[in-house]
Amino acid sequence: MAEELKLNKSLSDEEIYFQLKSQLNYLILSDEPIISGMANFSAALKQAFDKISWAGFYLAADDKLFLGPFAGNTACVEIQIGKGVCGTAAEKLQTVIVEDVDKFPGHIACDSGSRSEIVVPLISGGNLVGVLDLDSYSYSAFNGIDKKYLEDLSSDFISKFDFSNFSIK
Ligand code: SME
Repeated sequence: MAEELKLNKSLSDEEIYFQLKSQLNYLILSDEPIISGMANFSAALKQAFDKISWAGFYLAADDKLFLGPFAGNTACVEIQIGKGVCGTAAEKLQTVIVEDVDKFPGHIACDSGSRSEIVVPLISGGNLVGVLDLDSYSYSAFNGIDKKYLEDLSSDFISKFDFSNFSIK
């Protein structure tokens, strides 16, 4: 059973990511279901940062992305690869940072309050598993520090599980 997350939110983003990394190591266990891990990973990120309005996973199946575990308001269920910020990160297999969602052509507005976003692709065994998507109600909430640490936390997460037989559908 996972312990409660203990965070000092008065620290810098970098220090909060550092706290999160060690706590996620015991919060997310490799012998528990992947979906449960995704749910706690999303909740932990949203809990850790006041700047995050939505944190969650979109998971790849049938050349699309489908809504997975998340923390935040209800969201769009299906996204085409190549569409929106999520589909773009999934197609390019690169993290995408959007400082102002209104300036990103094709941005999919699940929550009209969202102002900026970061999406990290998740790759296991050379295959796209899905993406990690974080939204904020503030402009330019995410930068290179978030990219570095979110890619690192995502990589820790992915390496805990065997995705070869995993499918959201
Ligand atoms: N804004 C995303 C859609 C998902 S929601 O932000 C939860 C996009 O453009 O892909």
